[in-house]
Amino acid sequence: MKPFAGRNILVGVCGGIAAYKVVDWVRNLTRLGAEVTVVMTESASRFVSPLTFAALSGNKVHTAMFDEDGAEDIPHIDLARRSDLILIAPATASTIARLAHGLADDLLTAAVLAAENQVVVCPAMNSNMYLHPATSANLASLKSYGYQVVDPGAGLMACGDEGPGRLPDWEPVAETVHRIFSRQDLAGRSVLITAGPTEEPLDPVRYLSNRSSGKMGYALARAAARRGADVTLVSGPTSLSDPPYIDCVKVRAATEMEKEVMARAEGMDVIIKSAAVSDFRPARQSELKIKKLESDPVLELTANQDILANLGVRRKSSGRPEVLVGFAAESHDLMAEGRRKLAAKNLDLIVVNDISADDAGFAVDTNRVVLISADGMTSELPLMTKLEVADEILDSVTGLLTGH
Ligand code: CTP
Repeated sequence: MKPFAGRNILVGVCGGIAAYKVVDWVRNLTRLGAEVTVVMTESASRFVSPLTFAALSGNKVHTAMFDEDGAEDIPHIDLARRSDLILIAPATASTIARLAHGLADDLLTAAVLAAENQVVVCPAMNSNMYLHPATSANLASLKSYGYQVVDPGAGLMACGDEGPGRLPDWEPVAETVHRIFSRQDLAGRSVLITAGPTEEPLDPVRYLSNRSSGKMGYALARAAARRGADVTLVSGPTSLSDPPYIDCVKVRAATEMEKEVMARAEGMDVIIKSAAVSDFRPARQSELKIKKLESDPVLELTANQDILANLGVRRKSSGRPEVLVGFAAESHDLMAEGRRKLAAKNLDLIVVNDISADDAGFAVDTNRVVLISADGMTSELPLMTKLEVADEILDSVTGLLTGH
């Protein structure tokens, strides 16, 4: 099922040059399953034609306070009642000021004032206007009403100035909407997730690594943040961009990952180790590039610490983290190996991955896993997206946290 299926989102477009970017946002929201209705201010329709938004949303675009054909008696009340969330973008200095002062002098501000649901404000304006104390005070008022304000981006503006005030990127806006629509069952919980491969240096240009893309760990981090957790993501090298609203700690070698994870472990309620940590590293790291030799070189390896096993040992005395989850990447004897690692590393839950399947495991967007918990329960999940798998894992984690 699409994540926003059954949700009605009212998009309020104001008169700023960034209005053209919101055209794409409307398309993204409908692709995610939302029913989108657009309200445009008078000046917004000078930047983008209402027809564009009507075509992309599949719904009539509202611009006037009063419905000429009388089909809807009081449009602003009707629009406010029908929506689950109001997203205002670009939110201009003028609309922000009018909302802060409770004015209802056009359809959008009247609908927002009449609404009881969540409001997300995405400011976009010239930097001086954004940094003016009046705008700061108005944004503070909006936050005090419980509206979510997504920080604008910084950079070169359409007017030639540089600084904060660019329309936020879609990613943080999308995550804000996801969070509003997600159950907040991890609110107040600190969750550490490891992701990706590690790189074990051999010389300045070469390293040993593995095929992990980091997708499963990043999906877990995103899903946990959507459910309200304070998320720290300790990630080996990947090509993925940092997910918004997550504390991202970048590492390369297993020794660095161990240091960063161990330093934070006691402060965590939950640790999920989805990283594919190298079990070995070259016994010696050459400071100079290793040159071609006449005879075949021999690579000597030494074992890395097992970070997860160390966490398992440590929590026997400290009791932290409350919930410890590991992964098992297996090509054969899946269940037996999963159970063995669960017990050996003192885990509450292990996620067993068949890495021999084409549609599961490394580098793909889907995964097929079995969850085994310390109380002996097993749950064999069908093929799902990694985000769906992440939510299943987090369902088990919340069950463990609450004792259900
Ligand atoms: N792990 C770890 N530190 C290591 C190796 C593994 O923390 N040095 C963690 C992984 O993040 C994963 C779990 O241990 O959560 C299992 O990893 P996996 O590679 O499947 O198993 P290993 O214990 O390394 O055993 P083997 O490679 O022999 O299957």
